[in-house]
Amino acid sequence: MDRPAAQVPSPQDGFNVNVVNARSIMKRPEEPCSFIIFGASGDLTHRKLIPALYNLACDNLLPPEFQVYGFAITPMNDESFRKDMEEAVRNSKEASPFDLRVWHGFAKRLHYITADFEAPDGYKQLQEKITSYVKEKNIPDNRLYYLATSPTFYELIVSKLGEHGLVTPDYASGTQWTRIVVEKPFGHDLHSAQALNASIHKVFKEEQVYRIDHYLGKETVQNILAFRFANSIIEPIWNRRYIDHVQITAAETLGVEHRGAYYESAGCLRDMVQNHLFQLLSVICMEPPVRYEGTSLRDRKADVLRAVVPINPENLADIAVRGQYGPGFIAGQPVVGYRQEPGVNPQSNTETYVALKLFVDNWRWADVPFYLRSGKRLAAKCTEVVIQFKRVPHLFFQLSADDQIEPNLLIIRIAPDEGIALRFEAKVPGPEMVLRSVQMNFSYSETFKVSPATAYETLLLDAMIGDTTLFNRADQVELSWAIIEPLLEVWSATRPFQPFPNYAAGTWGPAAADALIARDGRAWHNVPVSTAPQKAPQVSVELTGEPIGVRRAQMPQKGQKEE
Ligand code: BG6
Repeated sequence: MDRPAAQVPSPQDGFNVNVVNARSIMKRPEEPCSFIIFGASGDLTHRKLIPALYNLACDNLLPPEFQVYGFAITPMNDESFRKDMEEAVRNSKEASPFDLRVWHGFAKRLHYITADFEAPDGYKQLQEKITSYVKEKNIPDNRLYYLATSPTFYELIVSKLGEHGLVTPDYASGTQWTRIVVEKPFGHDLHSAQALNASIHKVFKEEQVYRIDHYLGKETVQNILAFRFANSIIEPIWNRRYIDHVQITAAETLGVEHRGAYYESAGCLRDMVQNHLFQLLSVICMEPPVRYEGTSLRDRKADVLRAVVPINPENLADIAVRGQYGPGFIAGQPVVGYRQEPGVNPQSNTETYVALKLFVDNWRWADVPFYLRSGKRLAAKCTEVVIQFKRVPHLFFQLSADDQIEPNLLIIRIAPDEGIALRFEAKVPGPEMVLRSVQMNFSYSETFKVSPATAYETLLLDAMIGDTTLFNRADQVELSWAIIEPLLEVWSATRPFQPFPNYAAGTWGPAAADALIARDGRAWHNVPVSTAPQKAPQVSVELTGEPIGVRRAQMPQKGQKEE
């Protein structure tokens, strides 16, 4: 079953544009591939991996002779594994509509090995199954290993793969390949990330390692690159001369759900900031890469992380806020506080919210503050980057004392309601010179009339093709841990300044986070909270904010600068 191709908007739709459908240009990997999932009975396999593979099957994008080998301790055989995975696909909100014909073709490719990660048996069985299949088909023995287990098993599995000879030793020969995808969290702090990198490098070369961060697979995150570097009007203003500050928000209405035990050992700083938010920061701040390719792109992103001004543990209170949700209401329904969630210590001091002010010390961004925040059980689900531009240097309009012209805002909506909005000032029709903020909106779904591929589809396909562009390199992971290291140290050793919980579920987080940005004379950009799904028009101009009356004016003087 083919998914609907993106429709090309016509001039009648209100604009004229060349449309490129990202999914339609997804490449089908040419080389056969065995896909081995360690942790195949777990949550990630059910929620993300198998639905993404199934979607690729629906689009006929899986490689030739593609086989999946599930490997986990939970006793199952091929048949029960297939049943379990069928249920996962049927229940998945991210999977394409269930198609029995596609499913039958796909299910035949699924195999399962019940095994302990420590014992040699499972690895031997795996080797036998794969080699007998590739011999029978006379195809190269290409393998993509996927670590979907708890991170505590990563080093063990990698060393066992090496010990049992399951990794192509001569990667450079080019006749067959072995790659490994490593899920986040990659390490628990700088030291453990370095240790994990070292263990992996004993068995795999860096070019064989695909460290996944699903934010990089999001269409909207990749679109930041398109927006910045495929439009000539953006680059000249993308710097400290024009930009006042940047806000990066990843707000969730969900709590920790059934992941209390994991979250207790992670917290928001490790779970969201060190990876997803820093990826967004890198993509927003990076210099133009030489080409759209792994090394160039990752070099430029690593430069950003290198340029982040180190956090000074002495002034943490000025630049960092942590929070934890208490009981409250989400969409009108009462919800419990974090300490009442299953698997959570009732006295827990784990943070479910972080706000952070950072600087990127380089030619482009010196002195521009970057305000980052993320939290669970906030007022709305919203991941966005807001670029606030500087105010105009001179206003020839005569404003009353209370009126202030709003600065221009560029809002990049990562999710939901994916799109980009630009807020600017316009004259309200009429005899008087009255100004009002208006907003021009671009909405992905309205414009392209197709739902984007999920991040996992994009990333799995890239790993099968051997494209590292959207994956993290060892140095990037270590650099991002190094940035938050001082915070991790101080926060793990001290109690929160304001006793937890310090924000109610369903609000925008602790008051201290508002104070953090208010001290600089700024405010968070909070999306309106609505129980109905927001739907922005395709490309349109909306009225926003309050009208600002301006006395009919003196005309600008000749020769006066307009900028
Ligand atoms: C995951 C975190 O990496 O990202 C989760 O572990 C979080 O806690 C999720 O909910 C958020 O992803 P998204 O795509 O919904 O923004």
